Amino acid sequence: MRIVLVGPPGAGKGTQAQFIASHLSIPKISTGDIFRANVSGGTELGRKAKQYMDRGDLVPDEVTIAMVRDRLAEKDAREGFLLDGFPRNVPQAETLKKILAEWDQRLDLVLELVVDEDEVVRRLSGRRTCGQCGKIWHVDFDDKQDDICDDCGGALFQRDDDKEEVVRHRLEVYQEQTAPLVSFYADEEILRGIDATGPVEEVTERALAVVRQFD
Ligand code: AP5
Ligand code: ZN
Repeated sequence: MRIVLVGPPGAGKGTQAQFIASHLSIPKISTGDIFRANVSGGTELGRKAKQYMDRGDLVPDEVTIAMVRDRLAEKDAREGFLLDGFPRNVPQAETLKKILAEWDQRLDLVLELVVDEDEVVRRLSGRRTCGQCGKIWHVDFDDKQDDICDDCGGALFQRDDDKEEVVRHRLEVYQEQTAPLVSFYADEEILRGIDATGPVEEVTERALAVVRQFD
């Protein structure tokens, strides 16, 4: 299956992506994760992306699209994938459609995670990520008393772009550039929205119920 997850910053895309992708045995491709790995690895791509990420702006399309095209061409993505954080604007969506068409592929489902803005701010301000295994935690919802990952023992860190003023800007960027994707994919008749509030496992169940209809 070929799935795109869309939703505002902090909606829970990364959290749900790990469960959905492992349930379907398809690779999870997160553009945010790939950029962050390049930033911490000090690569050329990371240097290009960092200035935009720090401000909460989108990395230029030519950089992002080339990176995604290369990743989708890898063997493990041939039979299916779950994209988290891409496409992020209509030009990226149009290019993705063309790339997949060249390979006789198309998207099966675009799953929108619907959450209001207050909840998103609450989620992002308490988010911590494991530097070792990548698992996403929340200080309140997961009742974290220390900065150690319960799964692997790695150290947790807070993302630089989760500072309040950057979060506010990311939300504006979402409304201006990413929200129009919802009507783009509604026109293609592959969009389904789910309520992404409530416990993580309940959101996963709602997501999988939709996935089953499209599988
Ligand atoms: P990216 O990493 O994609 O960030 P984002 O879209 O802003 O999304 P987040 O990762 O902040 O949130 P999420 O929805 O994954 O939520 P999470 O699961 O972590 O992008 C970062 C930057 O990279 C961009 O700003 C841009 O610069 C660049 N970039 C990336 N893709 C790009 C593209 N295509 N084009 C151009 N630039 C691009 O959850 C958040 C918190 O809530 C966690 O603490 C989690 O534990 C908690 N939580 C999750 N679900 C629940 C629940 N049900 N109940 C309670 N808490 C929950
Ligand atoms: Zn870990």
